[in-house]
Amino acid sequence: MQRRKLVAGNWKMHGTAADLDEVRAIAGAAAQFGGQVDVALCLPGTLIHRAADAVPGFPIGAQDVHASEKGAFTGDTSVAMLRDAGAVLTIVGHSERRDLHREDDSGVKAKAEAALAAGLDVILCVGESLEEREAGRAVATVAGQLGGSLPERIDPAHLALAYEPIWAIGTGKVASCDDIAEIHAAIRALLVERFGAAGEGVRILYGGSVKASNAGEIFAVADVDGALVGGASLKAADFLPIVEAAA
Ligand code: G3P
Repeated sequence: MQRRKLVAGNWKMHGTAADLDEVRAIAGAAAQFGGQVDVALCLPGTLIHRAADAVPGFPIGAQDVHASEKGAFTGDTSVAMLRDAGAVLTIVGHSERRDLHREDDSGVKAKAEAALAAGLDVILCVGESLEEREAGRAVATVAGQLGGSLPERIDPAHLALAYEPIWAIGTGKVASCDDIAEIHAAIRALLVERFGAAGEGVRILYGGSVKASNAGEIFAVADVDGALVGGASLKAADFLPIVEAAA
């Protein structure tokens, strides 16, 4: 099945108003691929509103969201606040939040369901640690994360998954095409078994040291429907060749 690829940037804790020219350059150039590839940038919360204003119509997203509508959650951000700022999507369950903020599968599921219910698209992240891979538990780990994190009902138009092996994030050690193929096939099989045709339509992104030099071969792997890009999304000159490779 051919799915329109999605290439999303995850700026993590990088970016201020001084970087809006990069957002403008990415949004402007991405338009030339508009018919073939979906492009988005997931920015720090403090930059979302300015970016959404700077590039009207270009998908600006967040990197996390709280599952509650409002309340005594110091430092957190609700779906309504993100939508008010102009975000149209959010990442949930990134390994850096699962690890550093002790987010568990049920919490990730609650975030995904709250975001989807309120009209935000979601990129839901899963991925194993080096220890889990070396112990031969990569597939089991990812399957367990999906089992606990996936919403009860899914719409492939609004939910994408991102497989991000933790040991490939920010390390320059991109997963091999065989590793990627194995996990993406397992994710697809799980999605189809649980959700039928909807599971066939969900886009599965790969993330973890994606660069212009490796994007083409990664996108050629079956069931790779795009990428979630960290470091190489901060500059248009680094990010746009990845978008072009997906076109
Ligand atoms: O969410 C994407 C990120 O985890 C990948 O980071 O720098 O390895 O592309 P990077």
